[in-house]
Amino acid sequence: MLRKPVVLITGASGEIGHGLITSLAAAGDRPIITLDLKLLEPDLGSLVHQHYSGSILDQDLLDSIVSEYEVDLIFHLAALLSTRSEFTPMTAHRVNVEGTMRLLEFAQKQGESHGRPVVFLYPSSIAAYGLPDLETKAAAGRVGENEWTKPTTMYGCNKLYCEHMGRYYAKRYKQLAPETLSGKVDFRALRFPGLISAVTVPSGGTSDYAPEMLHAAAQGTSYACFVRPDTRIPFMAMPDGVEAALRLAAAPRSALQHTVYNVGAFNPSAEEFRALVTEAFPGADVSFRPDVKRQGIVDTWPADVDDSAARADWGYAPQYDLTRAFWEYLVPTIRRRYQQ
Ligand code: SER
Repeated sequence: MLRKPVVLITGASGEIGHGLITSLAAAGDRPIITLDLKLLEPDLGSLVHQHYSGSILDQDLLDSIVSEYEVDLIFHLAALLSTRSEFTPMTAHRVNVEGTMRLLEFAQKQGESHGRPVVFLYPSSIAAYGLPDLETKAAAGRVGENEWTKPTTMYGCNKLYCEHMGRYYAKRYKQLAPETLSGKVDFRALRFPGLISAVTVPSGGTSDYAPEMLHAAAQGTSYACFVRPDTRIPFMAMPDGVEAALRLAAAPRSALQHTVYNVGAFNPSAEEFRALVTEAFPGADVSFRPDVKRQGIVDTWPADVDDSAARADWGYAPQYDLTRAFWEYLVPTIRRRYQQ
C-alpha cells in the first residue's frame, strides 16, 4: 500500500500548534499528523488525521510514523522554553537538541525514501541572541541575524545550535560519503520574538510577562510583572506568527537567500504594554515586581530585530502592529474567551 503524503507537527498542543493546525486544516492541502506528550484539545483533535501521544525522543514512535506516512513537510515545534530550560538544562538539551536531531534524521530518511526534499520549518528564537549589557542593547537597536549571536540561556544555546545543525543536514550531511546525501532536508528557520496569543497562555518562557499580564487583566486577577517597566523586546501577535511559519514553509526554495530569518512586529516596553492593558481593562491591577534573574535574561535579548531579509525573500508582512494587535485581535478575542 502506498504511504500517504502528510504534514507532521511536533509539539502540536502548544501555543503555536493551536493556530497552525487550524490554518493548515482550513487550507486542506495535506492530512495533518501531530505528535505531542499531551492529547490535543477535542476541537483541534477533530482537525487532524492522526495524533500520536508521546515523546519526540521515542525512536519507535518516529519509526512507526515513517512506516505509515510520507511526510514532506514538518513543523518541529516541540521544545522546552527559556525559563523552564534553566531549571533542567540536561532535559532541555535532550528535548531541544537531541529531539531536533532525531527529527532531522527522520526528515532525512523520509527524503531519501520518497525522493523529494522534506521542508523542515524550525521555530528559533530571539533567545539565540545575547547582548552583554543594557548599554550595548540600547546602542544595538535592530539586530541582524548575524550579530550578537552569543546566547546566555540553555534554550538560546539549544536554538542556535539547532539552526546550525539544520543547515548542516540541508547542505553538508555526510559530506565525505561518495554519493551526495544532503539536500533531502530543506531546512528553514524563523527567529520568533515573544508571541502573544489571545486563546492560549504560554508556559515556561521568559517573554511570558506580556501575555500573562494581558490574560490576568482580562480575567480580573492581579498581576505582578517580573521585569522592569523599561524592559523592551520584540513581540508578535500569534496569527502573524502562524502566517510567517506557513509563508516561509511555502516559499520557493530559489527565493531563499538565507537559512535563518528574523521576524518582528512591534516592541513596546513593559510599561507601554501595561498602559494598553489598563486602557482595555480599566480595573486591571498590574504592578511591577522585577525578578532580578529573569530580568537578566530578557536584558540580553535585543530591543528590536531587523527582519528585512524575511520581507525581501519571502514576503514577510505582519498584519498586526501593536495598536491593531491589541484592539482588533487580542482584546476582542480574549473578552470572548473569558466571558464564556
Ligand atoms: N518566548 C520564548 C521564551 O520566552 C523566547 O523565544 O522562552
